Amino acid sequence: MFSDYLEEIISTIMELDPAARSRFEVVLCYPGFHAVVFHRLSNKLWKSKRLTLARFVSHLGRMLTGIEIHPGATLGRRFVIDHGMGVVIGETAVVGDDCFIYQGVTLGAGPEAREGEKTRGVKRHPTLGNGVVVGSGAVIQGDITIEDNARVASGSIVLKNVPANSIVVGVPGRVIYRDGKKVDNSIPDIEAEAIKRLKNRLDSLEKKLSSMPNLCEDDDKSDAENPEDGGSTDNSDPVDVFLQGAGI
Ligand SMILES: CC(C)(COP(=O)(O)OP(=O)(O)OC[C@H]1O[C@@H](n2cnc3c(N)ncnc32)[C@H](O)[C@@H]1OP(=O)(O)O)[C@@H](O)C(=O)NCCC(=O)NCCS
Repeated sequence: MFSDYLEEIISTIMELDPAARSRFEVVLCYPGFHAVVFHRLSNKLWKSKRLTLARFVSHLGRMLTGIEIHPGATLGRRFVIDHGMGVVIGETAVVGDDCFIYQGVTLGAGPEAREGEKTRGVKRHPTLGNGVVVGSGAVIQGDITIEDNARVASGSIVLKNVPANSIVVGVPGRVIYRDGKKVDNSIPDIEAEAIKRLKNRLDSLEKKLSSMPNLCEDDDKSDAENPEDGGSTDNSDPVDVFLQGAGI
């Protein structure tokens, strides 16, 4: 029953959110709660083929809560959206029971969506298993599966399936824990590697240039004229600081 469904969500929010002081407060002030109520209604309309009305109800929900859930999305029980602003859940997304997501999460379409109407009706959004947690601002894209009890860290971008009981972090997301054990992650940081290579090439070009005395004089002059452009007196090279941070 609808009322049982809502009761469960209110109880779950009370249990998980220390900021929630009363059930009445949840009903009145929790956009995550309002969003699932709107979705319940829009999903009913969607299933009864009143598609535009369904989209309109979903749009009203979005205006009130800042949470966009397509009426075609399938949501499990005790689904909690904390804060909520900026959450986007696409048409063919499936969310299991007891999932918990924070503000700014996207369960979006993968590259198939660029093919437009050809992919209408095709599954192109993610599936979350039961008990999945997705941190704020994380983006999960495409028809992939985040299996039961997996946790996606805030700010991650996940493009591949994630196994059960694991923690995924980073861009692109990679598994750093599985079944409570740290995963030996020897995957290189691609961006940091690329920056390191560029820096090495720049260093070697600068060395070659410095062996050309005339060019060097011109360079020194332009540095003096424009201290922000290479003439900085700051000793700490931000590229080195970045690479150190990436462990390279
Ligand atoms: C992913 C998450 C659910 C895992 O929670 P957890 O199981 O309690 O595990 P931890 O928080 O201890 O994190 C596990 C590891 O992931 C790392 N990690 C967590 N979040 C990360 C992030 N966003 N980016 C990179 N690494 C991250 C931690 O440093 C830790 O690594 P370590 O063991 O090497 O130190 C949690 O870290 C998270 O991101 N929660 C969402 C928080 C959020 O969005 N808050 C918004 C409130 S308004």
